[in-house]
Parts: sequence; structure tokens; C-alpha cells
Amino acid sequence: MSVLINQPALAELPVLNGRQFRLWEDMLENRIGVRVAKRQGYICSEISKRMIEGGWGDADSYFRDVLGTLAGAREWGILLDRLLVKETQFFRHQPSHDYVRARVTSLVTPNSGISSRSAFNIWSAGCASGEEAYSLAIQAAEGFAAAGQPENYYIVGTDVSADAIASAREGIYSNSALEQSPSMLKEKYFSPPDGGKRQVASAVRQRVAFSIANLLEKQTRYNNYLDLIYCQNVLVYFKHWRRREIVKNFQACLKPGGCLIIGPGELTDWVPDNMRRLDVPGVQAYEKRRKQ
Ligand SMILES: C[S@@+](CC[C@H](N)C(=O)[O-])C[C@H]1O[C@@H](n2cnc3c(N)ncnc32)[C@H](O)[C@@H]1O
Repeated sequence: MSVLINQPALAELPVLNGRQFRLWEDMLENRIGVRVAKRQGYICSEISKRMIEGGWGDADSYFRDVLGTLAGAREWGILLDRLLVKETQFFRHQPSHDYVRARVTSLVTPNSGISSRSAFNIWSAGCASGEEAYSLAIQAAEGFAAAGQPENYYIVGTDVSADAIASAREGIYSNSALEQSPSMLKEKYFSPPDGGKRQVASAVRQRVAFSIANLLEKQTRYNNYLDLIYCQNVLVYFKHWRRREIVKNFQACLKPGGCLIIGPGELTDWVPDNMRRLDVPGVQAYEKRRKQ
């Protein structure tokens, strides 16, 4: 009840004019690449709510503070968590997940690919609250099992949202989030339900690390290191030229022979240099050429 009393009525929210919205629009695009023009109403009302919570009286001074002060850096993180679209689910695009499992199996089967000593390294880029990264971990585990090999994979999940990464690290999800997941996988890779929730099994969590990272910044520490990069429902928020820049970064991070999987239709009319499109029905996947 008290929450409702403390909530300002919509009519009381400070109103952002068109000029002020465009300042935020440009800032979001420059800092994280995300275009928000189509969500103007939502963005303006979230900024207004945040101004009230933090005691800012006018939109220009709020913008200046977020942009230019040390206190603003903290405020930026809080605001960002409110503005991003973090919708996600387990095994979200089944054909892509099926391909990940099959690819792991074929590469780790003895004498068919990576050496038995090197781990299979996967990056879930824009992983939101972790469902995607854990789904990939489960596919990798199943892939190793199908090849009759001991599990030897690692996953890193990154997102620009600090809130999302904090939830991902906990690995606790409501039963409803898992409703569509196969029972066999739920029993094998999650704790039994407790208070309407389940936690990802510790054997899986131990192989998955999460960190806050902005896809506009190059992740040079992964250069030529990764076997697979999975990035779905993220590029779609970016301008086309930025999608290409990000994919070029992905290309640099893959080992020769490594694979990039994006969401179907998220990159059109362009194949990155040094990569070839894989012929997998319903899946948009590219392989980095082995010889440069
Ligand atoms: C719609 S969710 C998709 C989550 C997941 N990949 C999936 O397909 O279910 C988009 C995610 O991209 C993240 N994101 C947006 N811009 C980003 C950036 N510049 N760097 C990293 N993550 C970003 C958001 O925080 C959000 O969690």
C-alpha cells in the first residue's frame, strides 16, 4: 500500500519536451548504441520517475548531472537499468540452441576437432538475466555427453545492465520462467522447486561467469579465443552500421573455425570479412575462416 502512496501520479511527473527527449536519445545511442525513438513515451516517463525519486526539479539539470558529474555516473547506471529492454527466456530460439548442441558434439567427438585438452569457450553477448547463458551451458553439457566426453566448456555472459548481471549471477528463476523448458533438462540441471523457484545446478553455475560489458567497447582480451559467440535480440536495437562494427569485434574474438550465431534477420545483406555463412536451416550462423 505504501508503495502506491509514494508513487507520483502520472499527471504529476515532470514532462520532457521534444528537445530534452532528443538529448537523451542521442546520449543513449552514443553510449550504448540502443535506439529509443520508438519508445519515447516509456523513456520519458521512466526518466521523469527517476528525477522525482532523486529529487531533481528540472530535466535540463538532471541531464547535465548524469552526463557530467561523478554522482551522475551512479545515476546513469540506475537509469540505464530502467530503460533497457531485458526481456529474455530459456532456450529462446530452439533451432539455434539445437545447432549449438550439435556443433559441440561434432567438435568434441574424438579426432574430429578441438584437442581434448582445450576447453570449448562460449560468449553469450547481451545475456540479460542469464537465461541465455545457462541455456547455452546446458546445450554444451548435453553436447559433451552425446559425444561421450567429460564436460570441458566455459561460458561468459555479458550485459551492460548491472541489475541483469546481478540476477544472472544468482541463477535463481521462477517456475514460470522454466515452464517451456523440457522436464528432463529441468530435473537434470536445476535444483528441485523451492518456494516457486529453482536454482541452476552448481555444476553448471561453476562453468558460467558473468560480467558487465558494453558491446560498443572492443573485448580485445577475447581475441582469437572463443569457439562460439551467441548474440540474439540485441543487434536489432542498434543502427545497421553499429551492428557491423559489433560483428567485426565478434569476428576478432573468435578462433579460426569459431562460430557466431545471431538472431535470424538481425544482420542482412552483409557477410563479415573472413567469415562464411553456415547453411543451417532457420539459424543465422557464421564461421570464421581457418586460413586468413
Ligand atoms: C532483449 S534482451 C535479449 C536477451 C537475450 N540475448 C535473449 O535473446 O533472450 C537485450 C539485452 O541487450 C542488452 N544490451 C543492450 N545494449 C547493450 C550494449 N551496448 N552492451 C551490452 N548489452 C546491451 C540489454 O541490457 C538487454 O539485456
